[in-house]
Amino acid sequence: MAANGDNMRHQEVGHKSLLQSDALYQYILDTSVYPREPEPMKELREVTAKHPWNLMTTSADEGQFLSMLLKLINAKNTMEIGVYTGYSLLATALAIPDEGKILAMDINRENYELGLPVIEKAGVAHKIDFKEGPALPVLDEMVKDEKNLGSFDFIFVDADKDNYINYHKRLIDLVRVGGVIGYDNTLWSGSVVAPPDAPLRKYIRYYRDFVLELNKALAADPRIEICMLPVGDGVTLCRRVA
Ligand SMILES: C[S@@+](CC[C@H](N)C(=O)[O-])C[C@H]1O[C@@H](n2cnc3c(N)ncnc32)[C@H](O)[C@@H]1O
Repeated sequence: MAANGDNMRHQEVGHKSLLQSDALYQYILDTSVYPREPEPMKELREVTAKHPWNLMTTSADEGQFLSMLLKLINAKNTMEIGVYTGYSLLATALAIPDEGKILAMDINRENYELGLPVIEKAGVAHKIDFKEGPALPVLDEMVKDEKNLGSFDFIFVDADKDNYINYHKRLIDLVRVGGVIGYDNTLWSGSVVAPPDAPLRKYIRYYRDFVLELNKALAADPRIEICMLPVGDGVTLCRRVA
């Protein structure tokens, strides 16, 4: 939906309103994103738009960004924590080569299955190993097995914000040196700079402290180089250097 004047917030599904001007965001979508969005991703976006929790989906511009990044780093072995209906998962599956792999985890299989027919039709479902359940115990098992250490080229984390630091403690050993971890929502609807008395929605207020803590921890971690981008709801890329 187009932005309509300065006082109306942008209504696009997945848009978290961080750009100063809605018209500018619409310009990005109309000129660069939608004309180049693969047909299956468009279809999945439309399926997701009808779902009551559609606010959770990755935005189309972030999907395009992930796709470009995966190709630039030539990612093959990847992981995603937080799938929902699978928009970022499909972006990943389309971007990696045919023999590429995605270990995808989510506590909710039902939402994944909403998007699955579109992913199957796109011919990329064979790259996905979906595990239903909390991600942390899976990671705990994985780090015990030497062959998993340093084996991932790219990991995208878009799930429970109160666990990001716990994920990072494990993921840093699973991503290869030179590989990238992307943490989503690191600007948390702009709430990272909200004054203490700001009228924030309950879930935004609850998770804000975890996001602030994560951002500090990433900035202080000598094992990674970081880059925080104002794409979507903020995404911090961490390139493992040690
Ligand atoms: C913001 S959504 C993910 C959006 C998705 N990347 C996309 O492109 O649509 C967050 C997801 O994290 C999942 N989640 C929450 N806690 C989790 C956990 N402990 N382990 C794995 N997934 C979890 C939720 O079920 C939800 O589907």
